[in-house]
Amino acid sequence: MALTYFKRYRMEIDLNKVDFAKHRLPAGYRFVPWSPALVATHAEVKCLSFRHEIDANVFSCLGDYEGCRRLMIEISRKEGFLPEATWLIAKLDEEPAEDGATRGRIDPASLTYVGTVQGVEDRFGYGAIQNLGIVPEQRGGGLGSVLLLKALEGFRRAGLKRAFLEVTAQNEGAVRLYRNLGFAKARTVYKAVELMGVPVR
Ligand SMILES: CC(C)(COP(=O)(O)OP(=O)(O)OC[C@H]1O[C@@H](n2cnc3c(N)ncnc32)[C@H](O)[C@@H]1OP(=O)(O)O)[C@@H](O)C(=O)NCCC(=O)NCCS
Repeated sequence: MALTYFKRYRMEIDLNKVDFAKHRLPAGYRFVPWSPALVATHAEVKCLSFRHEIDANVFSCLGDYEGCRRLMIEISRKEGFLPEATWLIAKLDEEPAEDGATRGRIDPASLTYVGTVQGVEDRFGYGAIQNLGIVPEQRGGGLGSVLLLKALEGFRRAGLKRAFLEVTAQNEGAVRLYRNLGFAKARTVYKAVELMGVPVR
């Protein structure tokens, strides 16, 4: 069977050395914590973020909504799934009211979801970042960095000391983002994929 191999890096970080104040969420955006009712929302943002990117060739499930939905269900049912490291970023279409009984309240209909990340504790006690994604039209403004820091903060609150992620070597922008936040390459791995794009297990 014809296979192609994608070079990927495992990158790791010491959670005690992370500068959590380095990036802040810009005005007009909110973090939204995990809830099982948000599976479809995470899947939708994941699909919008990944479907035209290199990782949709490496993991075919990232290329369409149904694959992303199945993946989200699988991740959220893992034994080590960590809600505190699993977040969405929402953009407010309008700022919350400043006065009266509705002060500070946000109408869910005024939210557009633009970023997703999930966190899992692996069997060695590492925090594993899963599928950091920002929708294309919202990239380059620091949202990816701030969302990753939010997940790392969740790992630390859960008592973990180290975290890792895997990134496709060709995804140079993402590799740079991870380096900027303090991740370092720990090793290189190769992911075998059938030429038609179906991952080999
Ligand atoms: C990777 C991703 C999450 C980054 O989101 P983002 O909101 O653009 O990230 P930021 O704005 O915080 O970027 C931070 C830094 O990373 C770099 N960077 C990130 N993505 C980049 C890209 N696609 N091209 C060039 N540079 C990129 C920028 O140089 C930026 O550095 P700077 O602060 O010096 O300008 C986003 O591009 C994405 O969703 N990509 C598709 C899905 C994906 O590949 N996810 C990673 C899986 S491992």
